[in-house]
Amino acid sequence: RKKVSIQRLQQLRNQGTPITMLTAYDYFTARQCETGDVDICLVGDSLAQVCLGYDSTTRLTMPEMLHHVKAVSRGLKTPFLVADMPFGSYHSSVGDAIRNAVQLMQEGGAEGVKLEGGEEIVPIVKALTTIGIPVMAHIGLLPQRHAALSGYRVQGRDAHTAHRVVRSAEALQDAGAFAMVLEAIPHTLASYITARKVDIPTIGIGAGGGTSGQVLVWDDAMGTWEGHKAKFVRRFADVGRISREGVSAYAEAVRAHKFPDAEKEGYGMTEEEWSRFM
Ligand code: KIV
Ligand code: NA
Repeated sequence: RKKVSIQRLQQLRNQGTPITMLTAYDYFTARQCETGDVDICLVGDSLAQVCLGYDSTTRLTMPEMLHHVKAVSRGLKTPFLVADMPFGSYHSSVGDAIRNAVQLMQEGGAEGVKLEGGEEIVPIVKALTTIGIPVMAHIGLLPQRHAALSGYRVQGRDAHTAHRVVRSAEALQDAGAFAMVLEAIPHTLASYITARKVDIPTIGIGAGGGTSGQVLVWDDAMGTWEGHKAKFVRRFADVGRISREGVSAYAEAVRAHKFPDAEKEGYGMTEEEWSRFM
């Protein structure tokens, strides 16, 4: 398979072939994305909850993100690798945004970065894209603002906020974004933005089937997340159950002296060597 590029993603969008994006957080999940043939691998800041046990993405730091991006990039060959910019890593100044984005690419091996926000982050997106840092925008529900917004809510359900989402989509495309995530907005609005308002690929999560592609969080899709399950999540595998069964079976076998098997799972020594040793 050929390495996925931005040009390839645009081609998929233009020909109406859905773009597949899935999160990955370490070497294993990256290898699974590679062999499972996804187009884009995202080291999402959902890393905070699903891998690191924080209660929200606002806890995640640059060094933590970088550590995981490095591991994912070591496991990938074909998919396009995008890293989320952590909360606070692109807001303080354009200089900080550039420095952190460059670090995710240079040290981490990311091929692009994703930033949450609408029209208000256009100057930052512009600064990044003009110097050659590919930016994936992320509009609609913005998990990094859960505290300011008092929770995680569907966005754009009324005419006023729907217009705001559309303006953001247009402004971020103009700022040079190569694609955008549309999170938790009505499917009609997402389809409208995709078909009528932007030319770049839109990747939906909780945004219906009319976007250029879909993204899910690994642990939601594979059934390894035991917390809240959003309405838009579909579980494609129940890895959590399988691994729970595996862990119990292991512990049980050890306690019952059934693991290891002396013959099949151990190393022998000749009688002769043993008597010499004794
Ligand atoms: O952090 C994340 O996993 C994301 C995707 C859900 C788009 O931003
Ligand atoms: Na994210």
